[in-house]
Amino acid sequence: MSKPKVLVARAVFPEAIARLEEHFEVETNPDDALWSKAQLIGKLKGKAGVFTTGSERIDAEVLDACPDLRICANMAVGYNNFDVPAMTARGVLATNAPDVLTETTADFGFALLMATARRLTESEHFLRAGKWTKWSYDMFAGGEVHGSTLGIIGMGRIGQGIAKRGAHGFGMKVIYHNRSRLAPALEAECKAGYAGKEELLKTADHVVLVVPYTPESHHTIGAAELALMKPTATLINIARGGIVDDAALAAALREKRIAAAGLDVFEGEPQVHPDLLTVPNVVLTPHIASATVPTRRAMADLAVDNLVGYLVHGEPKTPLNPEVVKA
Ligand code: GLV
Repeated sequence: MSKPKVLVARAVFPEAIARLEEHFEVETNPDDALWSKAQLIGKLKGKAGVFTTGSERIDAEVLDACPDLRICANMAVGYNNFDVPAMTARGVLATNAPDVLTETTADFGFALLMATARRLTESEHFLRAGKWTKWSYDMFAGGEVHGSTLGIIGMGRIGQGIAKRGAHGFGMKVIYHNRSRLAPALEAECKAGYAGKEELLKTADHVVLVVPYTPESHHTIGAAELALMKPTATLINIARGGIVDDAALAAALREKRIAAAGLDVFEGEPQVHPDLLTVPNVVLTPHIASATVPTRRAMADLAVDNLVGYLVHGEPKTPLNPEVVKA
């Protein structure tokens, strides 16, 4: 019997591809090319599974053109590149890569907060440019981190990890806003108190965004929300591009209506709003919050586990639409 065919849509660890090759006929993308939708459809025809990384959009048009497809396994916890209802309607399984990146991503969220509040990259650029000729009392004086108020919007696993770092490690007062309130035991574990969005924006010294991207969370932070924040506050986005109105943020940063921002994700990335590239008080990183070697390996392994688990054994590890498995 011939092996099922699987597409690996982006370059990934050779070990992950070798694991897939034990079970499947595998087509890869060794040049790590960014395929157009038409190219993706061309590659996907006849494939039973696809390993995606979050950059490949799987929607009704792709699914209708590729009727052999049974599973799309994302090497990412976010899955806004998938139209899950369209997949469910066609009996195609969607899986993501939760849990394995939680602590690493929370570490990065905190690193970005620290770098932003303490003006790390701005001061490094100054030094590298040879502008450091003398010490001065207010040179790159930033905002306080320890003992300040940390406001987290989106209190899932990663938000909780950031809350614990802030509360336990830095003595911060933690407030959070979420669609649903956490159970009291979990609030106590995170030392976090629930707040309305407006109250959080008005009182937090550092606002960290960790909400999934959905049509409802589009521009969770726009001009109106930025206007509520303290002029000394920082804004950190490690969630998804589109959660923040980047043009409105760039204007607020330029006019010093908030102190600074740290952004790992961007509307329309890898394009970055040109105004963000010219304001000094923003730390910019290229969507690397989960990027440690062990974590990226674990994410790739989980995507492979899902493909093998479902196509070989009928049991995926982390299904997003488990009703497809039961059907
Ligand atoms: C990264 O952004 C992810 O969703 O895993």
